[in-house]
Amino acid sequence: MSILQKAVQAAMQKAVELAPDAFIPGGIPDPLIAEGHALIGAPVSRVDGAVKVRGAAPFAAEFALDGMAYAALVYSTIARGRIATLDTAAAEAAPGVALVMTYRNAPRIKPVPMIFTQPKAAHGDDLPVFQDDAIHWNGQPVALVLAETQEQAEYAKSLVRVTYHEEPATTSVAAAKARGMEAAAFMGEPLDVRVGDAEAALAASPYRVDAAYTTPRLNHNAIELHAVTVAWDGEELRLHDASQAVAHTAWSLAQAFGIEEKQVRVTSPFVGGGFGGKLLWQHQVLAAAASKLAGRPVRLMLSREGVYRVAGGRTLTEQRVAIGAADDGRFTALVHTGMVAMSPHNGLAEPFIMPAKSLYSAGSFKLSVEAVRLNMLANTFMRAPGEAVGSFALECAVDELAERMGIDPIELRRRNEPDHDPTTGAPFSSRHLVEAYRMGAERFGWAQRQARPRMRREGEWWIGMGCATATYPYYRMGGGAARITLTREARVRVEVAAHEMGMGTATVQAQLVAARLGVPLENVTVSYGDSAMPGTILAGGSQQTAAIGASVIAALRALFTDLLRLGGHGTALDGLHFDEVRGLEGGLCKAGDGLRRASYAELLARAGRDELQVEGQAAPPLEARHWSMHSTGAIFCEARVNVVTGEPRVTRLLGSFDCGRILNAKTAASQFRGGMIMGLGMALMEETQSDPRNGRVMNPSLWDYHVPSHLDVPPIDVIWTDLPDPHAPAGARGIGEIGITGTAAAVVNALYNACGTRVRDLPATLDKLLG
Ligand code: MOS
Repeated sequence: MSILQKAVQAAMQKAVELAPDAFIPGGIPDPLIAEGHALIGAPVSRVDGAVKVRGAAPFAAEFALDGMAYAALVYSTIARGRIATLDTAAAEAAPGVALVMTYRNAPRIKPVPMIFTQPKAAHGDDLPVFQDDAIHWNGQPVALVLAETQEQAEYAKSLVRVTYHEEPATTSVAAAKARGMEAAAFMGEPLDVRVGDAEAALAASPYRVDAAYTTPRLNHNAIELHAVTVAWDGEELRLHDASQAVAHTAWSLAQAFGIEEKQVRVTSPFVGGGFGGKLLWQHQVLAAAASKLAGRPVRLMLSREGVYRVAGGRTLTEQRVAIGAADDGRFTALVHTGMVAMSPHNGLAEPFIMPAKSLYSAGSFKLSVEAVRLNMLANTFMRAPGEAVGSFALECAVDELAERMGIDPIELRRRNEPDHDPTTGAPFSSRHLVEAYRMGAERFGWAQRQARPRMRREGEWWIGMGCATATYPYYRMGGGAARITLTREARVRVEVAAHEMGMGTATVQAQLVAARLGVPLENVTVSYGDSAMPGTILAGGSQQTAAIGASVIAALRALFTDLLRLGGHGTALDGLHFDEVRGLEGGLCKAGDGLRRASYAELLARAGRDELQVEGQAAPPLEARHWSMHSTGAIFCEARVNVVTGEPRVTRLLGSFDCGRILNAKTAASQFRGGMIMGLGMALMEETQSDPRNGRVMNPSLWDYHVPSHLDVPPIDVIWTDLPDPHAPAGARGIGEIGITGTAAAVVNALYNACGTRVRDLPATLDKLLG
């Protein structure tokens, strides 16, 4: 960015901060938030539940196309260097093999733009794909085998022989640190926040904690493997993908193959879990290239090992948290610094200081993230990138300080609850964390907790309780749009290029549209997961509901305007403006006067239409820069540690959340629980192990990389404040990622309270607990 661009951006930012509320989207609260509706918040079952249960929901690797070939990938076994020899003859001669693609015969592919470099960029790195002999990480694809069956492709790939000229590689954290640290940024903003002189305030504080916490690399393990089925029709490219970003993927592949954006169509109606991992990686590019080379459709489904080699995960962190406190417990200094590992071609520095920016009022702050570079697969987003691991360190440190001061950890947090954003000064849009703690503590039975460890023992088990704060920012990204079609029978079709990865996207939006139009839920169909539909909407950053919501509300506004303009004359609604009417029983009425009403059938008949179709564009997402907008929550854990073996077991979890209005009690509870289970895995078992000699991931399978199984997951209780955020579309902030935040800290704090051993290095395995 040029100096001029930076100056313009800074001035715009300042203008958005200082603008009157009414100039900001959501600045005049939408009256429908307060008016409410029986469908909003109702525990409606997933509209796609039945097709899922019947096995009738097609996933990306389930589309069978005529003449389709199956792909398998060969991965490099060195971290850095060049391919010396590549012998594909035996593989090419194997039964059923159509071709073997390497850098020698692959079509020319332009660089695929790396995420954040352009509005629709989504690729994990900016490395060339099969364009030269260079190796950038251990596991990089070096050959693609295409055969008549998956089994033939897998066998033939075992016959490909590759040798390398190795070059020096940085494959250990120690070596990477020795090469130096660099300042890190997140979405264009430096990860460096200073308020006052925190180190001096810390040194002068009567009470302090100062500790180091580490978290390992973590891998994506969605149940559905990454997969794509592709076909070319001349210069038109068609993909069935497992994607959190259909519009971004279509645009990116158009750049790669030098065609128009509209020549690529990506559909992804069902996704078996995304969590940040299902963006754009080499496999989609390779499948499209192989399909072009072979002149036939291709299916490429990564094996579980393939996901570990090709799709990046969460990077490792080393964090320092130091808190200084006065005698009354009020924080005088909050220091949260440290480093993350990145690959040399990479867009995501895990921003672990995000929670510390807005959770506590403190007299001074020093928050920063630095990065080192490792020759590894590019790391990427994984559920609450930054907050998941940052809240672990911060919320353990708060627990440690509470114990040192002899103050209950919830009371210590209450004493440091800010009344406005402590580092930006912005007002909060809505924040009820203290209430979430109160509700959670009461329901969990926090009063039963012993302040000191090893006070409760049953047989061979020490039992303890812990808590921690959960937090995730409200985001809404630009580019949202939706199309709505209304018929005389009051049937409604919503089209939006959004995604369903298991969270209930279509269900919740159908509720919102049915409530606002005043039609039964069954009248509304929500179509999504297709890049040909309106909108550039990422299922990420816990922002999809807000992004679609703002788009749908804009489209409904356009629909009401058109209905009144084209069909309103001579009806009871003559002369009314769109914001003076409400949907009611299959028509529109004057707000607050259900008797002044005209049915959709009447309005459309007068307009001379059988149906009306409109498109709405969401307003620019300025609200998140005008207010400090965050979902928050309180996580409670009861855990036991075996006195003899150190084995940890979590026996109870409770999440009490403040995320604005909850739009569907059933799907929301599942989102919260899923996040908390992922946090439990992070706390106790998950760890990507990399061989420091060669940078190869050593545990690329679900038998070596442990995630919680059913027996590891205790009953999880979930409650929420349900207090609407007046400045978010439909009053709802995000809920998809917050469940993982705070959970690891709550677990580790409970383990400490049980056995007296403080683990500061995740995962908290039994060897670390034998103290
Ligand atoms: Mo989420 S890590 O932004 O899919």
